[in-house]
Amino acid sequence: MRIDLMAGATTASVARDLTPVPTILVFDSGLGGLTVLEQVRRARPDATYVYAADDAAFPYGRLSEATLVDRVLVVMERLLAVHAPDLVVVACNTASTLVLPALRQRFATPFVGVVPPIKPATEATRSRVITLLATPGTVARAYTHELIETYAGACDVTLVGAPNLAGFAEAELAGLPIDDAALAAEIAPCFVTLDDGRRTDVVCLACTHYPLLLARFQALAPWPVTWIDPAPAIARRVTQLLGPASRLPFDREAPVLGAFTGGSGLTGPLRHSLALRGVLEIAVESMPLSLQ
Ligand code: DGL
Repeated sequence: MRIDLMAGATTASVARDLTPVPTILVFDSGLGGLTVLEQVRRARPDATYVYAADDAAFPYGRLSEATLVDRVLVVMERLLAVHAPDLVVVACNTASTLVLPALRQRFATPFVGVVPPIKPATEATRSRVITLLATPGTVARAYTHELIETYAGACDVTLVGAPNLAGFAEAELAGLPIDDAALAAEIAPCFVTLDDGRRTDVVCLACTHYPLLLARFQALAPWPVTWIDPAPAIARRVTQLLGPASRLPFDREAPVLGAFTGGSGLTGPLRHSLALRGVLEIAVESMPLSLQ
């Protein structure tokens, strides 16, 4: 029997209104995960959000694999205890390509990871010359090499482990723009011309920090290429797991809680940039990194 609880409401809409609002925690070493947060918020604007940055240990790209696994497990345990999210997005390629199995083994919360978008790159390329632009850590991962073997056997793949780009992206967000020459030097190895004349036509942005610099990359590229940002695919994965939004549209102003493990870089200009992305309230819980 159907019971209308509100005049004019359909059973489906009533059911959705009674569904509890999920809490989604988006996690990164620093500010790169903001590019993923934005896409996930667009897909699920009705959810409650925590943006967690392990800035005390930034950049993850320089940590050894053993140190990184230990670190993410310790920080995640704390974040899960404090925020009790329904789902965690590990918005960091450097961590996801290594730590997801350990996270899933240790915790019952569902995790969605961000991994290098090799498969979409092979679908987008015409020249079959593609570049993976990532942190040195992601470029070194066995997981990354397996992805390339599985999906990109028919392509020439250039791996570029950029030592400074994540830091540059953080500086830009904090109102300290990086000059063109420094940025151009970091992306120069992405652009390859082979002996047969074929050249790179797709670059995978395999670090969540890099889409923050996309307009600069486009302006500095020696020729136009397709830049692939995996964030929209991550947002689709989140809605597959949690279901569609019960409320639209996306409100950029809806507040997100920022949880930082260091906080030393939280200057006035950075707080302003964070506020423009909805991160209005910031909590710092000190978790210094001890490097064994
Ligand atoms: N945002 C991170 C990624 O997607 C990494 C930046 C870093 O901490 O090195 O790989």
